[in-house]
Amino acid sequence: MKSALFNRFQLTFGVTPEFVARAPGRIEFLGNHTDYNGGTVLGVAIDRAVWVGLTRRSDGRRRFASDQRVGLVDLAAGAMERTTGDACWVNYPLGVLAAFPNFGLAAPAGFDFLAMTDLPVGAGLSSSAALELASAWVFAVAGGASPERETLVKVARWAENEFVGVPCGLLDQGVVGLGARDQLVWIDCRGPHFAMIPLPAGAHFWVFNTPTRHALVDGLYAERHRECRLAARALGVAQLVDANLAGADWEQVAGLSSVAAKRARHVVEEIARVGAAVAALRQGDLAVVGRLLTASHRSSQRWFENSTVELDLLVDTLENHPGVWGARLTGGGFGGAVMAMTMATFDEDDARRVGEVCAAQWGTAPESMHLRTGDGAGLI
Ligand code: GLA
Repeated sequence: MKSALFNRFQLTFGVTPEFVARAPGRIEFLGNHTDYNGGTVLGVAIDRAVWVGLTRRSDGRRRFASDQRVGLVDLAAGAMERTTGDACWVNYPLGVLAAFPNFGLAAPAGFDFLAMTDLPVGAGLSSSAALELASAWVFAVAGGASPERETLVKVARWAENEFVGVPCGLLDQGVVGLGARDQLVWIDCRGPHFAMIPLPAGAHFWVFNTPTRHALVDGLYAERHRECRLAARALGVAQLVDANLAGADWEQVAGLSSVAAKRARHVVEEIARVGAAVAALRQGDLAVVGRLLTASHRSSQRWFENSTVELDLLVDTLENHPGVWGARLTGGGFGGAVMAMTMATFDEDDARRVGEVCAAQWGTAPESMHLRTGDGAGLI
């Protein structure tokens, strides 16, 4: 990818990039909608990434190009308005620029910028967080800083929350920013605190991307966010992580509407599943981890109501496969992708057969990918 980036940069801007950074996609392993509730989450960085090249300009203009779009987005010196339409991908690097002063960082005033990716866009693998982190790295280093990785994680989240306007938690940026090969990233979102958990040998990842994505997915994500906040308020706690309800009799919890009780139950039990998975990972017990993954999906289906019939069919099919430890929807839900943790024996033929079961129902097979773990964002 590096030489492709150099070639395209030269063709687009007539010079070579001075700085190049790479940021991977991520798989949400476990901890669904726990991050913005102050809970814990586990994710893994993968071996597909967004690459960004940058060369400084002296005239203050900022020109953005991407291998996913035709043409340039050319912004006048100092212009910081959100872009719309086909140029809206530029809001991710622009949001990073907007975040920088809040973190004591400076970016060059003008530059030429090219993003390229081998990460499927819109497949629930966090291509947007990858674009944010790769941008943050080139901007920071081109601005003369040697940034801390955790600072850039926070910058990227600020960009997403405050500039792009998505009320996401820290999962995506934390895993993209801090991931490492053969490791899971554990995040306690309250600190935030980060830790690395070795992935036991014998765990393989497959992702199946459904052809459907709910048209209102951003609105539904924000709605769940709001429902969780309301549930926390009804329970008299700042965040659902503070609700002392592990093992509660959910029928009897006072003050919660039935919707609030379902959302709170998913989050509280999911945080407990993350804790149980960390213990099982440390024991190398993939059978237990796999059961926790599938239990997470069932909770999404039943309590958080962020699954779809397509995601459910994939999990039902994978759950019964002898080469699969466990499977669940990964990311926000309402469409998108299912991840499966499989044994080494699960191969392309198995993935194709799973796809055929789906194709018989939907007319098209899901895109399937065998993903390896990879390193987090950094300068090349
Ligand atoms: C999306 C968000 C994350 C997280 C997940 C659900 O991926 O970007 O912050 O909330 O959904 O767990």
